[in-house]
Amino acid sequence: MKILIKNGMVINPKTNLHDKRDILIEGGIISRIEACIHLEDDVEIMNASGLIVTPGFIDLHVHLREPGFEFKETIETGTLAAAKGGFTTVACMPNTKPALDSVETIANLIKRIEETAVISVLPIGAITENIQGEVLTDHEALIKAGAMAISDDGKTTMNDDFMRVAFENARKLDIPVITHSEDHVITSQYKEEVYPIEAEYKVVQRDVALCKEKNGILHVAHVSGSEALKAIKAAKQDGLNVTCEAAPHHFALNTSLIDGKDPYSKVNPPIRGVEEQRAVIEGIRSGLVDIIATDHAPHETASKETTYGNASYGISGIETAFQIAYTELVLKEKISLDQVVSMMTIKPAEIGRLKNVGSIEYGYKANLTLIDLEAESVIEPSTFLSKGKNTPFKGFKVKGEVIKTIYQGKTVYSKI
Ligand code: DOR
Repeated sequence: MKILIKNGMVINPKTNLHDKRDILIEGGIISRIEACIHLEDDVEIMNASGLIVTPGFIDLHVHLREPGFEFKETIETGTLAAAKGGFTTVACMPNTKPALDSVETIANLIKRIEETAVISVLPIGAITENIQGEVLTDHEALIKAGAMAISDDGKTTMNDDFMRVAFENARKLDIPVITHSEDHVITSQYKEEVYPIEAEYKVVQRDVALCKEKNGILHVAHVSGSEALKAIKAAKQDGLNVTCEAAPHHFALNTSLIDGKDPYSKVNPPIRGVEEQRAVIEGIRSGLVDIIATDHAPHETASKETTYGNASYGISGIETAFQIAYTELVLKEKISLDQVVSMMTIKPAEIGRLKNVGSIEYGYKANLTLIDLEAESVIEPSTFLSKGKNTPFKGFKVKGEVIKTIYQGKTVYSKI
């Protein structure tokens, strides 16, 4: 069956397209993109007039919790939530139980993805066994088994020699080392209080230095402050292979807007003051921040309905990412919509070395997101498809709503 998407305003940053186009899908692949396509034969027509059509969003940083924490999220619920957020590809972090640290755990996960995911899920392999920082995993074997990158996620690898090996392998295998750059020797000393921002930038500075030494490939996850951004800027000026991401809660929130000790705002790295938030926004505006990634971290309600000290770190963010980016960055900050779309599509595809996604082009996968930019809503976590209802954005007024998400020609989310 052919599908014809008619009259949408197509925004495709890779080809600099921002204009009305019809898109024809055949066999899950984009086969024509033209100003006006008329077909006589058997075709399903989707009317996109009044909507924008973008490549399906790509999120290089999510926690799907399976295996081991299915009470927080599963691949099925996490990908349904992602589809509702307009995403057609997500990369999942290895902090599961067991961790994604062996060929066997990656193979088992891929089987579960094939059985239950509604969109594409790319596993990220662990740098060390059980992400404990003590024994290196076989990076090459993990990549051959299907991992798209390596990371020790929230348990930053503090052993410099292990990071050197990770960077050497990154270069050899042409994959990024994704770092959650925070010194957990520092962070673990703070339970009732928010830990200081040195925890972040000291590790970013170290990771940049080790990446340079080994001519590696570094992608810094969820940058939250000015000093970390300075180190990344210097690395880019130095010609290093270094990229970074910002999460919606770091560019949309600061501690004057929310209570930094509210369990629902508790996240790694923490939400900081307005100066750090401004640094992240200006980093996005200037292009220093390459992509938007959600760090979707679903948790069960009980782990947030407690004291700050006992609450889990993390925000369920995949269903609200575009709305927040559009409202905060495009409408308030006047950053172009094309730039925001680029940061959620082609740029993450490039960083992840993903083929045939992130762009609306002949022969590419028919992964598309249809959005109503005029739709206004109030964020209400009880409507989330994710098991994790943990968001500090409850009650926020936002604009821009995903109306339909198409994955390889199939509708995986539809508002109506
Ligand atoms: O707040 C966070 N929660 N940050 C992370 O990097 C990990 C995540 C989680 O797994 O819950």
